[in-house]
Amino acid sequence: MTTKLQITTPDDWHLHLRDGPVMQSVLSYTSFWCKRAIVMPNLVPPVVTAAAAAAYRDRITDALEEGVDFTPLMTLYLTEQTNADDLAAAVKGGIATAVKLYPAGATTNSASGVKDINKVMPVLEVLAETGAPLLVHGEVSDPNIDIFDREAIFIERVLAPLHERLPQLKVVFEHITTRQAVEFVMAANDQIAATVTPHHLIINRNAYLAGGIKPHYYCLPVAKRETHRLALLDAVLAGTDKFFLGTDSAPHVDMAKLQPCGCAGIFNAPNTLACLAQLFDDAGCLDRLEGFTSVYGPQFYGLDVNTDKLTLVKHETPQPVPQPVQTTEGAITVFDPQMDVFWSVRPA
Ligand code: DOR
Ligand code: ZN
Repeated sequence: MTTKLQITTPDDWHLHLRDGPVMQSVLSYTSFWCKRAIVMPNLVPPVVTAAAAAAYRDRITDALEEGVDFTPLMTLYLTEQTNADDLAAAVKGGIATAVKLYPAGATTNSASGVKDINKVMPVLEVLAETGAPLLVHGEVSDPNIDIFDREAIFIERVLAPLHERLPQLKVVFEHITTRQAVEFVMAANDQIAATVTPHHLIINRNAYLAGGIKPHYYCLPVAKRETHRLALLDAVLAGTDKFFLGTDSAPHVDMAKLQPCGCAGIFNAPNTLACLAQLFDDAGCLDRLEGFTSVYGPQFYGLDVNTDKLTLVKHETPQPVPQPVQTTEGAITVFDPQMDVFWSVRPA
């Protein structure tokens, strides 16, 4: 006996697709179950202009297989040199759906990011007028701050003051990992929402630190202690519409992860939905899965919810973790949730 569940086709509100052959190899793992995805701009070099975003968007759509209906929603990488008029034109012209704030040095390819938020305030004021959201990597990069505290300190030093100064600016606090982030989002006005990744709902810091160092669980922000994971899980399972899915699926070839200084990023696009279905099923609230994966995101962005449906199947036995994805650059290991997952997405 198998159980089936039909939900509105999801979107991914935070995705790294990379470029070139890696993008060509990973794209179908998202377009298989997603209609739209917010595509991160942290390429090398970063996507800082409307022209670069449009060209990247075209490379993605060119790489889609015939007949696949998937829309990449592009983002612009904010720098201290970003021109407010260019940014407004990119948003109003429909090229950029959102703008991404990377604090300089906080994560992969963030060197061109923002060192001093005050320098970009005029640009953020213009962004607020357009109604498009600012997507925030919410960690300070101050080397004196312990890596486990970088998100909480970011709220104090940057996000809370920014929200106070520009309460009308839409902000997505991305890939949140702490109780403090949940509390901040809950207390803020309705211009603030957060994305949550499947891996931060499933693993805590033991996954990469206990019993040997496990680079495949290393991502940024790093997973925190169990109490924080439980705070995220509570917020998401409660069906709060300020929290929606952003996978932060971030493929790096294994060779780049299994290094003395390995890359941050977890590749979860192939099994995101199966893992999420299992989490909601285990908590007895499968009826709330669809809000998180398919409704609250478009609602926050002011976009229509997808009209088509996708079917999830619950099997009698746990399903294997997907095999590594082979690319011309090397293999990419898929997120292993270290729990039984009985669900899979039914092929179209
Ligand atoms: O783990 C991460 N990987 N976090 C980020 O913020 C960036 C991402 C990447 O691009 O690999
Ligand atoms: Zn990311």
